[in-house]
Amino acid sequence: MKKWNIAVIPGDGIGPEVVSEGIKVLQAVSELNPAFAFDCAYFPWGCEYYAKHGKMMDDHGMEQLRAHDAIYLGAVGYPGVPDHISLWGLLLKIRKEFDQYVNIRPIRLLSGAPCPLRDAAKEDIDMLFIRENSEGEYAGAGDWLFRGKPEEVVLQTGVFSRKGTERIIRYAYETARSLNKLLTSVSKGNALNYSMVFWDQVFEEVGKEYPDVKTYSYLVDAASMFMIKQPQRFEVVVTSNLFGDILTDLGAAISGGLGLAAGANLNPDRRYPSMFEPIHGSAPDIAGRGIANPLAAIWSVSQMLDFFGYPDWAEAVLRAIEQVLTDRDTLTPDLGGTAATAEVGDRVVAALTGLVRRHELKPVQ
Ligand SMILES: NC(=O)c1ccc[n+]([C@@H]2O[C@H](COP(=O)([O-])OP(=O)(O)OC[C@H]3O[C@@H](n4cnc5c(N)ncnc54)[C@H](O)[C@@H]3O)[C@@H](O)[C@H]2O)c1
Repeated sequence: MKKWNIAVIPGDGIGPEVVSEGIKVLQAVSELNPAFAFDCAYFPWGCEYYAKHGKMMDDHGMEQLRAHDAIYLGAVGYPGVPDHISLWGLLLKIRKEFDQYVNIRPIRLLSGAPCPLRDAAKEDIDMLFIRENSEGEYAGAGDWLFRGKPEEVVLQTGVFSRKGTERIIRYAYETARSLNKLLTSVSKGNALNYSMVFWDQVFEEVGKEYPDVKTYSYLVDAASMFMIKQPQRFEVVVTSNLFGDILTDLGAAISGGLGLAAGANLNPDRRYPSMFEPIHGSAPDIAGRGIANPLAAIWSVSQMLDFFGYPDWAEAVLRAIEQVLTDRDTLTPDLGGTAATAEVGDRVVAALTGLVRRHELKPVQ
């Protein structure tokens, strides 16, 4: 039997609440499949840990994580610890040191998910965002000069290396080719006259190796308008760290909200573990009340299953989520229901088990 080792970092706020439902689904998948199982090790890192130890994770934390096949993260950040400390001390540290240079965020309107766009049908919203995840505007490069003086100046430098830009764009072309979908690049070459002109140039250069992939290029302002007005324009989308961060929150808003948006941070060459997480934060406003929507965290379990090579089970988890959404009897308040976080997790497990019982899904032997 194949054993997958998962490092679980529940994190802060609603992180532990939604992660425990994701693990519930993961364990259910393992019980339904004789061929594989998951071994979870828990790491209590985050803002509470920071309050006790003055750091977001153990000094040897990265070595401990490295021994695992994947990392499953809830969310980090809580009032009392500045966000740039919690983010750089854990989440961004892992993304960077494990060279998780691909951030995959599916923007897909599942059946039953609420959509604020009046005329959009389910099939109109089905995008795969590929966001550069290791450099760009989030490289952490810059300076803060003459602090507190009248001549104070801050510099935040975007870093776009040839290696970093080429590899994310090549990954996007490969993905578009394998899915037989069109590829859109989102940039801002008219105003960002170095970084984004370079991005556009690399997009065109790499594209010569993929004459079979149909492409479009949009400025980020136009792209945000089209995502609302004509979301069907987008299939696979590649963009920079900052633009991807913002556009995928917009994408979440048109496909069911933050409670339904998942993200995977991939190290495609698999030298280091990849990390799977809901894209929402720790939601301090609802933390501890047991009403957080766990579906985004469960969707990231689906991404993990796909990454491990079980695409049928990845899709099955999404079908189970869709069933819960269409039945509408067990939804958290953000989706108009009154159910608790754990009840939604239980319903997803029941829907998944139902698929196997009805022989719509075969266990991996
Ligand atoms: N990946 C991460 O760990 C991550 C991402 C974003 C923000 N953060 C951190 O989280 C903290 C709070 O940030 P924020 O308030 O800007 O963003 P947030 O995503 O935590 O919350 C935004 C709004 O969406 C709601 N929401 C989010 N997830 C939900 C869910 N699963 N179910 C129901 N409602 C949900 C919240 O209640 C809140 O009203 C900050 O410290 C921030 O730095 C962490």
